[in-house]
Amino acid sequence: MSEFLKLGVLISGSGSNLQSIINHIEQEGLPARIQIVVSNNPDAYGLTRARNHHIACAVINHQDYSNREDFDRELIRILKDAGVDLVVLAGFMRILTKSFLRAFENRIINIHPALLPAFPGTHVQQKAIDYGVKFSGCTVHFVDEGVDTGPIIIQAIVPVLSDDTADTLAARILIEEHKIYPQAIRYFAEGRIMKKGRHMEIINIKNCDAAALHNPPLDR
Ligand code: GAR
Repeated sequence: MSEFLKLGVLISGSGSNLQSIINHIEQEGLPARIQIVVSNNPDAYGLTRARNHHIACAVINHQDYSNREDFDRELIRILKDAGVDLVVLAGFMRILTKSFLRAFENRIINIHPALLPAFPGTHVQQKAIDYGVKFSGCTVHFVDEGVDTGPIIIQAIVPVLSDDTADTLAARILIEEHKIYPQAIRYFAEGRIMKKGRHMEIINIKNCDAAALHNPPLDR
């Protein structure tokens, strides 16, 4: 592996997580380089963000492919040609095939806007509100064959407030996504993730904060 971890970032939409990764590389010394950004959606705003930073982009429109295998074959080709070490799913709304998982085994990570294993899938902020949970958050995990079931690397918790809508909760969660995704990439780049079964132990943790959170806050 070179001095920098070579990333392939897959997007479908706004790309605010992509932007956060770019910012951490440019301003925070994240030891990574984005080799390529790939979108399945030609109109994704994330493509504009990438181009603004002179990052190579590719569009593979899933509507041009009659099946997932063909779509993923092209995706694998583009990522391999770009020399990608780690595939970073950043709001990429496609399910990947087993062939793709095999091509990048243990080298695909995803961010999900809920505290897994609660609320996998889509529309999860609304589901958290509807269920009445007092906390939600976000999770970075390795991708396995299930939907949002892979080993967890890092999570952040945010309170769910009584007047939250899916949009206000999503915005509060996104703020934390923008912190934990670059952190997870740093762990990977620095070789700090030790696999123990499905437990991902992080070594050389800088600060240890084991404080409990309460929402609503305790009366005192
Ligand atoms: C983020 O909230 C991300 O966690 C979510 O899509 C949003 C993308 O935002 N991903 C998923 O729901 C994957 N199942 P962004 O395009 O601004 O980074």
